[in-house]
Amino acid sequence: MRHWLWSLALLCSVFISISNAASPLPVWGKNAMVSSADPLATEVGVNILRSGGNAIDAAVGVAFALGVTENFSSGIGGGCFIVIRLADGTSVTIDGRETAPARATRLMFVPKDTTSPSYLSTMGVMAAGTPGEVAALELALKKYGTKTLAEVLEAPIALADTGFDVGIRYDIYLQNYAPFLGMFEGTKQIFFKNDSMTFAFGDRFVQQDLAATLRRISAEGAEGFYHGYVPETVDKYMRDHKGALRAADFESYAAIEREPVYGSYRGYDVISMPPPSSGGIHVIQMLGLLEDYDLGYFGAGSSDAIHLIAEAMQIAFADRAEFLGDPGFVNVPTAGLMNPDYLNQQRMLINRLQHDKLDGPGNPQDFLPPEIEHPDLKHTTHLSVIDNLGNAVAITATINTPFGCGVIVPGTGFFLNNEMDDFVTWPGRPNYFGLIGKEANEIEPGKRPLSSMTPTILVRDGKPIMVLGGAGGPRIITGTLLTIINSIDFGMSLQAAIDYPRFHNQWVPDYLFLEQEYAIDLMEALRDKRHNIYPQTHWANVNAVSADTLYGGFWGASDSRGSGLAKGF
Ligand code: GLY
Repeated sequence: MRHWLWSLALLCSVFISISNAASPLPVWGKNAMVSSADPLATEVGVNILRSGGNAIDAAVGVAFALGVTENFSSGIGGGCFIVIRLADGTSVTIDGRETAPARATRLMFVPKDTTSPSYLSTMGVMAAGTPGEVAALELALKKYGTKTLAEVLEAPIALADTGFDVGIRYDIYLQNYAPFLGMFEGTKQIFFKNDSMTFAFGDRFVQQDLAATLRRISAEGAEGFYHGYVPETVDKYMRDHKGALRAADFESYAAIEREPVYGSYRGYDVISMPPPSSGGIHVIQMLGLLEDYDLGYFGAGSSDAIHLIAEAMQIAFADRAEFLGDPGFVNVPTAGLMNPDYLNQQRMLINRLQHDKLDGPGNPQDFLPPEIEHPDLKHTTHLSVIDNLGNAVAITATINTPFGCGVIVPGTGFFLNNEMDDFVTWPGRPNYFGLIGKEANEIEPGKRPLSSMTPTILVRDGKPIMVLGGAGGPRIITGTLLTIINSIDFGMSLQAAIDYPRFHNQWVPDYLFLEQEYAIDLMEALRDKRHNIYPQTHWANVNAVSADTLYGGFWGASDSRGSGLAKGF
């Protein structure tokens, strides 16, 4: 009987947990589920849900907590994207992406001597854009939550105030980045226990300045972050250290509610983040390119499946480099990029037998509907939450590369981001992630840099089925794509779908990056298909939850590559 039930589960719901030799089962909870990159932050979300909060309350609490316990990845000095699917069936996204300061200029990062490298867009004061996370989280909570900022901030403030024990992952980041953290006085004061040593594994790590800033937000709302002490303190520091950010940049910042991008894949509706994210469009594009192939027949980890998916990846990334940018500044041909006719045309570029380096982007402008509807403009971490009311929330938040620009302005307690590096900082040259771009993503005052963050929700029969996204620059896009394909096409459990070895092609450079777990003979088979194989260990960190459509309740899984936690109740 039991065996029969499991077979039925497999047939009826690809998201039902099935065992996979390489991965443990995902966790199950009857009422709600939270998955994030840090166990303490996940606990914050579960406690909010247990106390009667909805998925939005919990997600906002988790996002603030991640900025305390995983502050090398995200925080109030950075930005985020939020995708929400509400119990009433409506979907919305909130854009809390950083903006370029008013003093920013197109070539501000190109040195006079163009033969020397420039690190100004990744390290130090110039790299910081105006933070957006606090405005976005407040907007989400006010419009869609049930609790107050003070309520959801209680636990994150306690984590900053009384501290937490440094775990192994945090310790590795601290030790690897100690020389970087030691370069900035305000940062050194917080992260070093003496002149030469950072806090380390097992130490209690307290962040009282951060607690004070969070208390300010708790008492005054986003107003307490964007006006008064914080911007004035940052402004003075920036003037003293030749930075671009000013109090006026904080004061004029606003999070933007945007219409999601929608797609579909094998009967599932895909809801994701529109520009200035590139992730949503490109996941929908790649799924559209691939829907024509029976990937399940080829099998997970087969050279045929990897080849086809990788070819779809390069088509999407070639378009990304050309067309994607802040829609407030450039016309992104969003509808054309996702138009099935365009994807049918682009699919013809896929050679079934071998890899052909793509010459360039496609022509999505020719596939725009006659009248474009302009919707009312009404190192990164991802969290996913789902509740039994029918709400689902995906938030990806970031300060960009680990510890952002490295600067904590004394008296504020939070890292400033280095999101300026997500712009085209030096025309013709790749950014930190090796991504290239064109005019669409060049620096302009107030503009939002293009992002790969891909918070995404899958819906089937009107119900949220899977909530996912990840960290890892452009590998977020492909990590999200592969998790969806592993679940839907290859029938893996949520945990296995996340843990399964990944691969990535971003058009330029022309490599097929593969996780090293893949067998040598598979790599040889892909070389025979003319892929330039590049085995690597550096990958996205995906956190996802899903609904069990057969038995009820929710599954949760956190990437085995990280040290996060999925927990429900
Ligand atoms: N900062 C990485 C991204 O947004 O893509």
